[in-house]
Amino acid sequence: ANREFFVGGNFKMNGSKEKVSKIVSDLNKADLPSNVQVVLCPPFPYLAQVVAENKQATIKVGAQNCYVKESGAYTGEVSPKFLKDLGVDYVILGHSERRQIFKESDEFVAEKVKFALAEGLKVILCIGETIDEKKAGKTLAVCKRELQAVVEKVEDWSDIVVAYEPIWAIGTGLAATSDDAESIHEEIRSYLSTVIGKQASTVRILYGGSANGKNAPTFRGKDNVDGFLVGGASLKPEFADIIKSRE
Ligand code: G3H
Repeated sequence: ANREFFVGGNFKMNGSKEKVSKIVSDLNKADLPSNVQVVLCPPFPYLAQVVAENKQATIKVGAQNCYVKESGAYTGEVSPKFLKDLGVDYVILGHSERRQIFKESDEFVAEKVKFALAEGLKVILCIGETIDEKKAGKTLAVCKRELQAVVEKVEDWSDIVVAYEPIWAIGTGLAATSDDAESIHEEIRSYLSTVIGKQASTVRILYGGSANGKNAPTFRGKDNVDGFLVGGASLKPEFADIIKSRE
């Protein structure tokens, strides 16, 4: 596959000025491959710091959420315009934690994707099933439903990266096997090709859920796994190993 390998680091609600600086300065010193797109997603308050401190040309910065308006009376919300203004290029949308804890619907996530793209951000769109849905054999159905909501609002998928994150694998240490990930990624891509056509072959599909320095290399050779969206391990030195796992 001719898709650039992509590794996102989702810090979630973790960090401090000092911790974030340490992560960025360690990455600045690392010998990173020139053909892997890396995106660091710290909490909002540290975005400007990461933009300022990052020296790696292959590292971009992403936010973990944004709202669907440019500005106005929306206390506590963050406009994609502010993110662009700060030098942020990406935004994670539809993360399962936002869907579950903050009750974001498929439609609201899709609206966010559409608005963020229109404002010039690139989107990391997260999808994935719960353990109960998996047990009920609904994995693909859930992924399709979450994607379909976006398909209805967005035609051009060139600035969307999909992250398949089975909820049972997030933060549990129980990553999907590379074979299982490849098989669902392949099904996701084939579904996408039925709804967005040829573009589907260029959409990156990342795996997320307990990806770490140790299991990342086991995904080598899996054609439809175009990278990782990393949570916990993105705060640790092994994040660099994940970035280098395709070498
Ligand atoms: O966005 C990242 C995912 O939720 C994965 O988190 O690597 O800590 O399991 P994790």
